Amino acid sequence: MNEHAHPHSMSERADELEEKKMHEMERIITKSTIAHLMDGAVKMDTAPEMKARHPGRYFLMGDDPRLPPMPERPTLVDYFRRRFASTAHLLQSATHALKGGQPEKVVLACLLHDIAIVSFIRCDHGYWGAQMIEPYVDEEVAWAVKTHQALRFFPDESVGYGYPDLYKELFGSDYQPEPYIVEEYKRARAHKWYMTSRLICVNDIYSFDPTAKVNLDDFVDIIGRNFKQPKEGLGLDNSPSAHMWRTILWPTRFL
Ligand SMILES: [Fe+2]
Ligand SMILES: [Fe+2]
Repeated sequence: MNEHAHPHSMSERADELEEKKMHEMERIITKSTIAHLMDGAVKMDTAPEMKARHPGRYFLMGDDPRLPPMPERPTLVDYFRRRFASTAHLLQSATHALKGGQPEKVVLACLLHDIAIVSFIRCDHGYWGAQMIEPYVDEEVAWAVKTHQALRFFPDESVGYGYPDLYKELFGSDYQPEPYIVEEYKRARAHKWYMTSRLICVNDIYSFDPTAKVNLDDFVDIIGRNFKQPKEGLGLDNSPSAHMWRTILWPTRFL
């Protein structure tokens, strides 16, 4: 038999089998309800429905093969490089604070202030971001990240901070912050750490030189000194916010 003329040589058949095995091993990837809500649909991926659509396959319970692989014990820097969708704004803010001679605490707060937006969720990003980092940073840094969300809407001429033009552009000039933001601002204004959070706003400018060279490498030492990296890996530890990091690590796990 002319093996070359035959459509299924031994090696081709082996490849086919291998591929079949791989397909069998492919897991069913689900979207969480919040992702559907974000698509404007109140619905969920239910197990029976998904199983019927993908007979013989199991649900994904770990790494999503579509995402960049993460190391066994991921660090904050690994999340920066492989899970944060954009880091330019964070690096530019932190660079601005660093060049302005701010203490490392403020530089770190600037570096982390919008991590919720770039990796997780926009709504109430200050609160989410603060919870993500709370177990690993100075209390003051987490507090500042939480409250910058509210302070951003209120000027402080003493440090030359006005209402951002960008916000007029983004939300319309008649936008008024909701009462919970106003209340948060009032509490923050009277707080002993007010200025730390305000300094995030001062350094949080979107019109920085877009050609400015920024590099995460410049902040690795500051992270090392100010962010308590858990030895088990960020998210694989037992901190009160480890589950949030795990969700970013494995966003499509079925459970
Ligand atoms: Fe922000
Ligand atoms: Fe920001």
